[in-house]
Amino acid sequence: MSGSDEALEKVDLLSPNILLVNAGGSDTDAVSLAERVIQRKPRTFVILLMQYMDLESYQLASAAGCHNIAPFPESAKELCGFVHRVFNTESDRITALDTNERATWSSKVITVYGAKGGLGKTTIAVNLALKLAEQKKKVAILDLDLLFGDVHIFMDVEPKETISDLMQEAFSNSIDSVRAFMTVHPSGVHILCAPKTPEYAETVSGDRIQSLLALLRSYYDYVIIDTAVNFSDPTLAALEASTTILFVTGLDVSVLKNSKVAMSILESLGQKKKVRVIINRAVEINSITIADVQRIVDAPILSRIPSDYMVAVAALNQGQPFVQSAPKAKLSLAIGDIAEKILTGTDHFDMQKLPARERRALMRRYKTREKAEKKARSRAQRG
Ligand SMILES: Nc1ncnc2c1ncn2[C@@H]1O[C@H](COP(=O)(O)OP(=O)(O)OP(=O)(O)O)[C@@H](O)[C@H]1O
Ligand SMILES: [Mg+2]
Repeated sequence: MSGSDEALEKVDLLSPNILLVNAGGSDTDAVSLAERVIQRKPRTFVILLMQYMDLESYQLASAAGCHNIAPFPESAKELCGFVHRVFNTESDRITALDTNERATWSSKVITVYGAKGGLGKTTIAVNLALKLAEQKKKVAILDLDLLFGDVHIFMDVEPKETISDLMQEAFSNSIDSVRAFMTVHPSGVHILCAPKTPEYAETVSGDRIQSLLALLRSYYDYVIIDTAVNFSDPTLAALEASTTILFVTGLDVSVLKNSKVAMSILESLGQKKKVRVIINRAVEINSITIADVQRIVDAPILSRIPSDYMVAVAALNQGQPFVQSAPKAKLSLAIGDIAEKILTGTDHFDMQKLPARERRALMRRYKTREKAEKKARSRAQRG
């Protein structure tokens, strides 16, 4: 039995709140121990201390799903400070898990929906998830395009298990069992992939999606749901459980016709107030303008994403979403802007409509508030 097997047995037995793993240079044993604990014990927060903090080892550790990675501290005081900080930021989550508290904290469910195929739903879902994870948020993507889901292709991961495998299990009260079915992307985003073949789509029911989402919300800061063009039971469950529906549309007559119909269905379902519209490939080259879209869909426009075929397709073919492969591209900046609005809670109105001065003032207020909160947190830790 290797040292890490023994450690794993101990973790199983003791279920500690925090596990410190000391990793030597490119120590794959330590990283694989961290990975196994992260997969099996969501209540145990793993801190990986690295003797040599080079880029390769860092990437290896984040690919294993580690969020708390630090160079080996120089003093006991520094170590205590770090452990304290991790515990303080994670303890809300531990409490939520332990008390089975559902969704009362800041967790958000964001469904990306569109009334036609090929509008860019998956592109937006995947890149948004990465942008949110960049801000150290715990993010999950649920691929609810049950027939032709391709989130794993956009993110270039090989699904171990899928949502249809999960549906055959009883997971009603445990996030631990759900985590075992998720695939970890090097960014730290956890993916629950669509069934490997379409015939398994039927194993996914609306009721189970509802309980799955409640469970995911008790652990993740953001659950992003990619959808297909339908109002099937799983999609309806997702829309109902969402805090925000990102409604993707475009600037052509056929898309707008479908969007109008879909919007009226959302209205009759009582979900329209959650809708924020994203106009993808927003080039005003013809007679349809952004103002026309606003009038036709009659919901706040959150963002206009430009068209950039080269960047979008290159990212897809390389299996590296463009917010990573081309962070400075206009497409990436547009997604960054959506992520910022979601993070700052300013997605409930059309920020673009504000004069630039007011927009800047709003961002300044948010940054000041964030700084003050950070200071208060570190004061509380010291005291
Ligand atoms: N803003 C954009 N500019 C250029 N190409 C884009 C843009 N957004 C998406 N694309 C490209 O459009 C194609 C369809 O995108 P995507 O698969 O995200 O759409 P979808 O709505 O999820 O489609 P489906 O309904 O089939 O699931 C992809 O090749 C993608 O790279
Ligand atoms: Mg798609």
